[in-house]
Amino acid sequence: MKPTDKTLKRAVKLRELLNDYNYRYHVLDDPSVSDAEYDKLFIELRELEQQYPELITADSPTQRVGAAPLKEFAEVQHEVPMLSLENAFEDEQVEAFYKRIQDRLAKYKFNSIDLQEFESEHMEIPIVCEPKLDGLAVSLRYEKGLLVRAATRGDGFTGEDVTENVRTVRSVPLRLHGKDFPDVLEVRGEIYMPIAEFKELNSKALANQEKVFANPRNAAAGSLRQLNPRITAKRQLAIFCYGIGAFSDKLPKTHMETLAKLRSWGFPVNLEIKLASDKQKSLEFYQQLSVKRQRLPYEIDGVVYKVDSLADREILGFVSRAPRWALAHKFPAEQVSTIIEDVEFQVGRTGALTPVARLKPVSVGGVTVSNATLHNMDEVKRKDTRIGDTVIVQRAGDVIPEVVSVLLEHRGKNVKKIKMPAKCPVCNSAVEQIEGEAAARCTGGLYCSAQRKEALKHFASRRAMDIEGLGDKIIDQLVECGLVANPADLYALTQDQLANLERMAEKSASNILTALADSKKTSLARFLYALGIREVGEATAKNLAQHFGELTPLFSATVESLQEISDVGPVVANHIVTFFAEPHNRTVIDKLLAAGIHWEKISRDPAAQPLHGMTFVLTGTLATLSREVAKEKLENLGAKVAGSVSAKTNYVVVGTDAGSKLKKAASLNIPIMDEESFLEFLHKQ
Ligand code: IVH
Repeated sequence: MKPTDKTLKRAVKLRELLNDYNYRYHVLDDPSVSDAEYDKLFIELRELEQQYPELITADSPTQRVGAAPLKEFAEVQHEVPMLSLENAFEDEQVEAFYKRIQDRLAKYKFNSIDLQEFESEHMEIPIVCEPKLDGLAVSLRYEKGLLVRAATRGDGFTGEDVTENVRTVRSVPLRLHGKDFPDVLEVRGEIYMPIAEFKELNSKALANQEKVFANPRNAAAGSLRQLNPRITAKRQLAIFCYGIGAFSDKLPKTHMETLAKLRSWGFPVNLEIKLASDKQKSLEFYQQLSVKRQRLPYEIDGVVYKVDSLADREILGFVSRAPRWALAHKFPAEQVSTIIEDVEFQVGRTGALTPVARLKPVSVGGVTVSNATLHNMDEVKRKDTRIGDTVIVQRAGDVIPEVVSVLLEHRGKNVKKIKMPAKCPVCNSAVEQIEGEAAARCTGGLYCSAQRKEALKHFASRRAMDIEGLGDKIIDQLVECGLVANPADLYALTQDQLANLERMAEKSASNILTALADSKKTSLARFLYALGIREVGEATAKNLAQHFGELTPLFSATVESLQEISDVGPVVANHIVTFFAEPHNRTVIDKLLAAGIHWEKISRDPAAQPLHGMTFVLTGTLATLSREVAKEKLENLGAKVAGSVSAKTNYVVVGTDAGSKLKKAASLNIPIMDEESFLEFLHKQ
């Protein structure tokens, strides 16, 4: 039976009413009806939809119950990267931030040096002060006013598609309010779990002898990154929005106006946010919020300062992955005192021995801490830390807990000095202290099972070979029972060997085998990074791959020739040469290649080069590379480098003392990159 016109209209009306009540409740914080009234209308709509399923629309408030479970999350490339923030802990760092932006803006706006100095000191820069919410960042994409996709931040460039989970979050609008929204709109915000919900969730878990979450942030992340959206729907998550990513129209001129627009489109925007006219006012905001923090129904871990003028933001640009126009001023990390019961030495991937204090367990910010790092022996000496001491331990966000100071007034008679062992605690090889280095190292190399385990963990990690499911515990077991000694052995594992490990189901074993097979298709850069050559991080690995194009020339590269590559100095060059000169390493590489690890040849076809078709102009003096080198790098990536700015220019790279080209670029609205952003840009290609 088809619904009558009247039923159809009623369903439309109910959806409108419920969406409007939702908006008043979540965005305006001004509910217009009672919960009972809301529920009554909600039930009416749900019944109509049950009777006539054709009435159901994607934006219906009834559609927040969660779709069917997924096997895995799809990847989402962020059109506009999701950046991170630089952190500050002290007022002085905030002052330095102000000074930096004042100087940069004055330099850009006033040509005379005298004027610059005068103006920068007196220039007032309105700053928006926002609570730094302790949840997880998401990007919400709307097309023609409808929520089409939601993604986590991931590494800032690629996140996970969590659309079905985000749909269940009541304060996320499924359809935008009002009319003047752009066709395409990506909104950035923080999903969080209110403290009350967190407490309730944990007390239920405790009663059922289930795992409790350490803090609301972990609970929010655990609830959102659920393959079963119905579980997400049961947890009361919420959102506050604080920015815009991709946008198909003109943006307002200031951040405050952007936030007002977001609110008018139906996004919850935090009500504590204020505009501060100067530095003093920003610091006052921080002080006041740090007091108010205790009374807020959600967790925050600091204040985010953001330049209000979007035009000024353009001028300020970025440093690596963080904007120069924003700063996170964190609240002090939580500290408690406890006793060091013992000290053990952990052996890292490169053999470095790290002293770790075994503590009398204490709760720091809701998490039980029983280990804390002592960093290295220099730090132990500087603080004069001893076993048996009462110490202050601190834990800040995701950072590993650390011993901050020793309470010498509490020192008893029976304290014991901490000594670097002469032999590796894991493999018994000699420990050597290298002149000028803080760390002491186990000389066992890959004979040492600790180093082997760490090397394998690095090899399998997400940014290296990305072998999903091959976690730390499994690698520990594989090494301990002698099944795996080097990365090549991983590819010889069988279903039976894996399934026989502790706590391993048949299904997980076959998932790992699939992940191993999938990992064989990789890139040269990832492979080089995965090998774990000392001091060869992701960026250097990329540079090496780009420079050599293939693996074999690297085997015969010399310390001198390697130094022609950007970021490679004598130390790194030496590590690379030593690594490839080691017969054992070459055997492992040969076996890995024989196991089928391969990558696409780095293309020398011009049209396939990453910057093909783009034109750059370089102007001013660059501090870390000459213009010729910058030009060569761009050309190697397929770009053209022109001598003058025109409407065809894609980017102008600006060094110090840039002249008319910079002005011309500004007048033509051509994007400008400073040296740091330029280097970051090159790395990403
Ligand atoms: S702005 C470039 N505003 O902090 C701007 N972030 O450390 C980047 N966060 O990934 C984000 N509250 O998860 C911004 N009011 C706020 C925030 C906020 C919390 C988180 C967010 C981001 C991380 C960066």
